[in-house]
Amino acid sequence: MMGRVAAAGELPGTPKEEIDTPALLIDATAFEQNIGLGRELFLASGRAYRPHTKTHKSPLIARLQLENGAAGVCCAKLGEAEVMAAAGIGDVLITTPVVGQRKISRLIAIAGRGRVSVVADDRGNVDQLSAGAASAGITLAVLVEVDVGQGRCGVPPGRAGELARRIASSAGLTFEGLQGYNGAIQLLRDFHEREVQARASTERLLEAAESVEDAGLAIGCLTGGGTGTSALDIGLGGLTEIQPGSYVFMDATYRSIEWTAAKAPPPFRPALSLLATVVSRPARDRAIVDVGWKSASVDSGPPVLRDLADARFEFAGDEHGALRFDSGGCPLEVGSKVELDPSHCDTTVNLYDRYLVVREGTVESVWEISARGRTD
Ligand SMILES: Cc1ncc(COP(=O)(O)O)c(C=O)c1O
Repeated sequence: MMGRVAAAGELPGTPKEEIDTPALLIDATAFEQNIGLGRELFLASGRAYRPHTKTHKSPLIARLQLENGAAGVCCAKLGEAEVMAAAGIGDVLITTPVVGQRKISRLIAIAGRGRVSVVADDRGNVDQLSAGAASAGITLAVLVEVDVGQGRCGVPPGRAGELARRIASSAGLTFEGLQGYNGAIQLLRDFHEREVQARASTERLLEAAESVEDAGLAIGCLTGGGTGTSALDIGLGGLTEIQPGSYVFMDATYRSIEWTAAKAPPPFRPALSLLATVVSRPARDRAIVDVGWKSASVDSGPPVLRDLADARFEFAGDEHGALRFDSGGCPLEVGSKVELDPSHCDTTVNLYDRYLVVREGTVESVWEISARGRTD
């Protein structure tokens, strides 16, 4: 499904101050640095990295990540995987179970054309995957999802061997390995707290790996981890493959975590922003902009103003945001442009049809967010 076509104020060559808003911008320089730093950090670790495309939902960015050493990509949903596969992205892991006959038929259709693997944590689901793959005459790679502490999907570590054996003995399936991802700890601000929890998650994953080995099976891959634990996961040595997503953009919440024991900030730079326009100046200490609940995600709080240290952003409706200048006058006029850091990149990206890639103050290119809205 395509959104509306790019308007004049979004085309390459448009100066940043003339971009039509609300708009989702990528800072080309910061983005390229993040991609390069990811390659250095993750590849030097000797682990494979399989970036998560749920962050950017763009086959073009996925391809850049593959060109920078990624082993393949992750997708959260089948719909995202269909977009990636249609764009020729050849190695996709779907990190959420794919359930039900209709969805399994769609999965088999893309698995017949490229390398697609999927996680599972349920015997009945494994049986349905097997029936679908066998009747299509293909082999589908399946990983057992293990609950390593988040309390979301996943079998308990001690049950991983049992499900792995079922996969390995099912027609049309191969047992690929284990996924253990703990999303609840990625954004823990305190470095030590995150380290303790990452260690505990690794131990649970290794316990699961032992249960698979006890069942007489070899493990091809132990995959998991996000941006927040990536450096820790590399040191802990459990995962053979890491799945960072947010490192390409780094939202305001991620920017605030302590990256090291010495409380250094993350090395990745903020590369994504929202551009808004002041549409009203109703009071001395207040400006109203055209970004509200429909153009900035709310799950991690309001976006953060970039260059106005003495003001704060408050949601003021579906299409309105209020900039409050608590300690004095507002320097902005109707028509002024304001830049904001999203509080959560993934959910904000999902609200937009395209990125405007800005270099040295001018729109350089426009990238479609082709998997936007593909939660199916
Ligand atoms: C299974 C899985 N792996 C990796 C990630 C990437 O995490 P992050 O964006 O924190 O790097 C996510 C994000 O939700 C995820 O669900």
